[in-house]
Amino acid sequence: MQSQFLTLWAIRQEELQYQRLRSESIITPEVFNDVMHGLTDRRGAAEKRPRLDLGLKRQALVARVTIFADLDPRKRAKISRLLRPQLALPGQPILRKGERGDSMFFISSGAVEVRLVPQPVRLGSGDFFGELALLDNRPRNADVIALGFCRLLRLSSRDFNRLMRADDGLRKQINAIARERRDGAPAN
Ligand code: CMP
Repeated sequence: MQSQFLTLWAIRQEELQYQRLRSESIITPEVFNDVMHGLTDRRGAAEKRPRLDLGLKRQALVARVTIFADLDPRKRAKISRLLRPQLALPGQPILRKGERGDSMFFISSGAVEVRLVPQPVRLGSGDFFGELALLDNRPRNADVIALGFCRLLRLSSRDFNRLMRADDGLRKQINAIARERRDGAPAN
């Protein structure tokens, strides 16, 4: 997992360098697009789940999420099969305001910033984000950026809808937090 973070970090640094070279017109758009394609492929390969990250490891990550922590282990194991581990690097945009939502995220470790105006909100280990676009069928209402190295668990909108139908308790908790966020209350 650590070496995976390092590889992704190196790719991100390269990306920032190419963006700088492009913004200073040192490289042409064609060269920029070409190197960015290469980076996308390398990032895809680096993000592939490590072979050893089997069920048990994922369940440990799921147990760190507040709304899953008290579930009985069988139920948690079932939910963990729906979640896809994903890493995020410091400064990496995870969600973009205005984009269509096709998934939500749970933070297993690390912290993110929700770029709300006038005041950004920080979310950390155990929290979730990206649920509003799925619940309201609306575009993302804010950018969400990783503040440090994050271990995230991604839930697709299809599985989110299944989970919301299947589990009363989880549905109520997610809806309660979403309501506070829509109202602009200090939610986390
Ligand atoms: P979504 O609109 O899908 O994408 C941006 C996310 O930021 C949003 O879902 C919420 O998960 C999160 N968010 C929006 N407003 C708040 C808030 N007031 N407090 C915490 N998180 C928020």
